[in-house]
Parts: sequence; C-alpha cells; structure tokens
Amino acid sequence: MKTYDTIVPVDFWNPDPAVIDRAARLIRAGELVAFPTETVYGLGGNALDGAAVKKIYAAKGRPSDNPLILHFPSPEAVESAAYVDARAKRLMEHFWPGPLTLVLPARDCVSKEARGGLSTVGCRMPDYPAALAFFAACGVPVAGPSANRSGRPSPTNALTVAEDLGSGVAMILDAGECRVGVESTVLDVTDSVPVLLRPGGVPMEQLQEFLGEVALPVGANQLKRSPGTRYRHYAPTVEVRVWVPGEAFAWPHAFCYMGVRAPECEPAREIRFASYEAYAHGLFSALRELESSGLPIVAEWPPEAGLGRALRDRISRAAGLS
Ligand code: TXA
Ligand code: MG
Repeated sequence: MKTYDTIVPVDFWNPDPAVIDRAARLIRAGELVAFPTETVYGLGGNALDGAAVKKIYAAKGRPSDNPLILHFPSPEAVESAAYVDARAKRLMEHFWPGPLTLVLPARDCVSKEARGGLSTVGCRMPDYPAALAFFAACGVPVAGPSANRSGRPSPTNALTVAEDLGSGVAMILDAGECRVGVESTVLDVTDSVPVLLRPGGVPMEQLQEFLGEVALPVGANQLKRSPGTRYRHYAPTVEVRVWVPGEAFAWPHAFCYMGVRAPECEPAREIRFASYEAYAHGLFSALRELESSGLPIVAEWPPEAGLGRALRDRISRAAGLS
C-alpha cells in the first residue's frame, strides 16, 4: 500500500500540542489541513482568507457557488463570524458538540468565497476533541467541506483523503475511522420556521422534538437555499441500484450488495451491516470498496427513522435518483 508523509497520527483525546501547533500554523499561512470529525474528514482552510478558500475549491474540484461549513471550537467562537440569536444559542447548547450545522446570517469578515456568495454561513462544532483543539489553535474559523474530490463518496479515514486529494493538502490529521459516517444535518435557522437543508447525523425527529416545527425545503426554494443539493454526489465509478425490501426488484445477473437484510439473490461480494447505524457508519467506505469489483452495487433502501433519512438521501444521490 502506498504511504503518504502528509498523514500525521493524532490522539482522539490528547493530540500532541506540537502537531496541533504545526497544523494551525499551516492554516494561518493560507495552506490546507485535513482534519477528522465524528461524521467525515474535512478539508480545512482559513475562512477569513479568500485565497485559502479558493485553494479548497480547487483541491476538491468543487463548484464555487456551493458554500462551505465553518468549524469552531466552542459556541462562543461563532459570534465572531455569524449573528447568533436566542434560538440558535439554545440549539447549540443542546446539540453541540455534535453533527448539526446551523445556517446563520454571516458577518462581513467571512470571505465571500466561503459563503459561496450567500449572505448566510453554515456553522458547526464537531464532537471530536482533537479537531476542537486544532480549531482553537487556529484562532480563525476553519472552512471545511468533506475532504473528497467533488462528487465522490465522503472520506471516513485519512488514507482515503490522501488518495483523493494527494498533493492538494499540506497535512492530514489522522485519528482513525469516523464514528458517525454520514455528514452533519444542515438546518437553516434564519427564518421563523427552521428548514432542514440536509438530513444527517442528528435525526429529524430530535430536531422536531426540540423545536416543535421543522420545514423541508421544496422545489426551486430548495435549490436557492441549499446549493449543494443541485450537484451529483457520492457517486462511485459503478452503477448503484436501490432495492426496496418487499417490492418487486430485477436482481442483476452479477452484482455486489450492501445492506442490513440478506439479499434475495447470491451477490459476487457483499457488505452486510449489523444495524442501520452501522450501515450509515460504513456506507461511504462500502461504496469505495465495492466499486473496485466493476460490478453494479445493489443497496438496500433503509427504513426512514433515525439515521435512515440521511442514509436514504446519500443512497439516492449515489444512485443518481436525486
Ligand atoms: O459533517 C459535515 O458537515 C462535514 C464535516 C467535515 O464537518 N462537512 C461537510 O461539508 O459535509 P460539505 O461542504 O461537504 O457539505 C456542506 C453542505 C453543502 O450541501 C452546502 O451546500 C451546505 O452544507 N451549506 C453550507 N453553507 C450553507 C449556507 N450558508 N446555506 C445553505 N447551505 C449551506
Ligand atoms: Mg461533501
């Protein structure tokens, strides 16, 4: 296996201060550093520095109108980059650190490149001590999309980041596999009724319980509010077909399979998960692993509850259905 000298191991709880300091210096010097979170690995750059943010878009091959999420070491740190009202504060107190991104009105200091030209900004505090130590040392908000080439499945380990981005990243902080495996839930809280822009690690039910009402964006409004939804995502190099258990399905002659239930025909290769949480955790690596067979991938369509909504979103995008 090829090794990469950009990959630097860090301890989840107690990252070496010298390593964190080196990573933070790179960020302040306008370079890119990939970092682990509980969801997926992020590709970090100084959000206040338009030139650094442009490097992120270039390294990923990402369209420049798809805004980036800013990462912070604490709820208080967000105040420097966004306007935080009482409801946003309550959400932060309840769900942070954790996989919830809040879209808030942006302050002028956030580069327009990071905002993708919008007047709002996505803010997040991951549940990951090593990453929080890194953000604190940076002293600036860290813009960080998932650290994959645009359109590919998101990376849940450091090696995948290195393979996808190569020399486009100065350093990769490596703390092993990500725990959640699907990205954060993106919630727009700039209007009276919060809008779920992307299902993710915090299930919709928990947000509804906390907030009372949560809206789903519809039609043209969705595209305007959540630019990320207009692009193809999570696409492996082979076709992905969705199997809805209980419904008629034409099983391909030769295929790979991933899901919790047993498939109805014999696959050439399969990745079976013990639970739907495990399916969410392993989805992106499974897509990358199975594509190497060159065969179509059949993916089980999960129930909608809990992380199922996020899983359905990622699977339908991987299959090109949305
Ligand atoms: O879990 C995550 O959220 C990971 C880790 C690294 O934090 N990050 C991530 O970033 O998934 P990215 O860039 O792959 O996805 C960000 C999503 C995109 O769909 C983008 O359109 C949306 O969030 N987004 C970011 N800022 C926004 C804003 N101001 N308004 C609406 N949508 C926004
Ligand atoms: Mg992404």
